[in-house]
Amino acid sequence: MSSAPYRVVPLDAAAHDRSVFASGSAPLDRYLREQVTQDIRRRVAACFVARTDEQRIAGYYTLASASLLLADLPSAAAKKLPRYPTVLAVRMGRLAVDHAHKGQGLGGALLADALHRAARAEIATYALMVDAKEEAAVAFYRHHGFVALPDSLQTLFLPLASVR
Ligand SMILES: CC(C)(COP(=O)(O)OP(=O)(O)OC[C@H]1O[C@@H](n2cnc3c(N)ncnc32)[C@H](O)[C@@H]1OP(=O)(O)O)[C@@H](O)C(=O)NCCC(=O)NCCS
Repeated sequence: MSSAPYRVVPLDAAAHDRSVFASGSAPLDRYLREQVTQDIRRRVAACFVARTDEQRIAGYYTLASASLLLADLPSAAAKKLPRYPTVLAVRMGRLAVDHAHKGQGLGGALLADALHRAARAEIATYALMVDAKEEAAVAFYRHHGFVALPDSLQTLFLPLASVR
């Protein structure tokens, strides 16, 4: 357990220690250690970390541009939108909290930070979306109000108009 205060900031690969991050998900830990800086450099993802005072990473998430097919949305959501084939979205590609910091509200706080960051962007996007890798993740996002696509229950979205 840790009671360290956090600041959510863009990942600084030179300053933040990524080597000891352990969320319990090997792919998410490996991504932070080995892949994320390349994705940032290529502008295919942005990464934000909850940093402790000791420059340790307590949690992280990534954001990237995405789109949703109007035909894939629940009809109640689609009928409120213009008849374009797609609407723009922000994809939260990854979200993970270090095991020492779990169960203290940090995952929810990182999700809220991502929603506000996406809602504040000057280029309008319709929703924050996620591709949940497993049932526990689906349950986490549903708990926070995300809605699943009818034909793809592991893809969930939350309209950003509801965030303000
Ligand atoms: C999922 C994860 C990010 C949650 O982080 P956390 O800091 O432990 O979660 P929090 O303490 O912020 O929980 C916030 C809320 O979500 C709820 N919650 C947490 N995990 C949940 C789950 N699997 N199902 C349903 N609700 C869940 C908590 O009960 C809490 O509810 P409350 O705000 O009403 O009290 C973390 O467990 C993790 O890193 N898991 C491994 C990676 C992973 O599965 N990532 C998911 C995205 S792919």
